[in-house]
Amino acid sequence: MTTQRELPLSDAGFPVDSAESMLSYPVLVGARAIEAAGELCRPFEHVALLADETVLGLHGERLGDLCNLPTFILTPGEANKDWKHLGQILEFMSSAGLSRDSLLLTFGGGMTGDMGGLAASLFKRGMSVGHIPSTLLSQVDASVGGKTAVNLPAGKNLAGTFHPPRFVLADLDLLRTQDLNEWRSGLGEVVKTALLARAPLFGELEKAALSIANPESADYETLSTLVQACIRTKAQWVQTDPTEQGSRKALNLGHTFGHAIEHATGYGTVPHGIAVAMGLVLAMNASKATGTLLEHDLQERILQLLQNLGLPRSWKECPKSEQTPLSTRSLVQGLAQDKKGQVAKPRFVLPQAIGKVLWDQELETTTLNAVIDGWLA
Ligand SMILES: NC(=O)c1ccc[n+]([C@@H]2O[C@H](COP(=O)([O-])OP(=O)(O)OC[C@H]3O[C@@H](n4cnc5c(N)ncnc54)[C@H](O)[C@@H]3O)[C@@H](O)[C@H]2O)c1
Ligand SMILES: [Zn+2]
Repeated sequence: MTTQRELPLSDAGFPVDSAESMLSYPVLVGARAIEAAGELCRPFEHVALLADETVLGLHGERLGDLCNLPTFILTPGEANKDWKHLGQILEFMSSAGLSRDSLLLTFGGGMTGDMGGLAASLFKRGMSVGHIPSTLLSQVDASVGGKTAVNLPAGKNLAGTFHPPRFVLADLDLLRTQDLNEWRSGLGEVVKTALLARAPLFGELEKAALSIANPESADYETLSTLVQACIRTKAQWVQTDPTEQGSRKALNLGHTFGHAIEHATGYGTVPHGIAVAMGLVLAMNASKATGTLLEHDLQERILQLLQNLGLPRSWKECPKSEQTPLSTRSLVQGLAQDKKGQVAKPRFVLPQAIGKVLWDQELETTTLNAVIDGWLA
């Protein structure tokens, strides 16, 4: 019998192992996943911790003895996901005496995982990293798949590598302290992933939406199933194309527009996954405008789902819209910075149906402007 506070370390097909998902590393999902950290760190002679300051303060005691590891504490905020802080992390790793046989353990959200993954891939030309993702977004998305990055002034995630972790421990109990805005950011990536799933995940999410809309009152058993399904879906797309030469680009659904929203409003103003949720609406509208959409009730279903999850369906519904100006011009400029497209000609992932998208799609300037104008109105 499981209670809300004591979810099992999932046995429903998890941990994801290489046979299950084709990922070459274990992913544990469950309320006590963090307890496996000591065992998974043991093979490494030296281990150091890269921890988000807030997460360390709230949940540090759950690391047990690992709390005594040499630790670099990262000040939260997307603005700190930059070259300067990456350099400080690398210097810390050097002074902690790490070698190529060491492990860097990250403890935080996607920002911490992305920076830790990049630092580990650069340090002494590559050492191991293990992730304990502490946000919904990083559990369903950022920690799995091996992408690492920091932002450059010119754009988001412009300097990065592919560096898969040695393990991922997605401990659901860490999520209960997330604030609502960051929670919704994770839900944005959940919606994106459900749209890419070939299994009936999208319908399950529609049914569960109201019960997972808030981290404090969420039904964590249902959430556990959804997190596992999202990780499996992501793993399937990653496995077909680990270094994003083709089909993995599908995972960027909503991201070309989403990154442009983040860029145009200033990084950190709109949380990544909320920008992605709005990017999904824009991509859906572009799909409809270009005749790409095959499943005609999909647009309505997505809008309803976003509403039930408390996610904005237009710029006006985004709480940041009151203080933050956003114009078609600034969004088009932001699009030109997206690393997934050519500088002058952004490329988009356009949905056709659930589990079916087209990537590398270009849009006529008039269509693009009309889609953005409509969404901003
Ligand atoms: N590598 C990938 O494939 C990939 C995929 C998606 C997103 N990302 C990246 O992930 C980043 C976003 O990650 P994120 O949404 O996890 O944000 P984040 O890591 O910036 O964390 C958001 C905020 O939540 C706080 N926080 C984290 N865990 C908490 C908890 N359990 N309780 C209370 N507060 C907590 C942090 O201190 C921070 O203030 C972006 O930089 C994005 O580019 C990477
Ligand atoms: Zn994302």
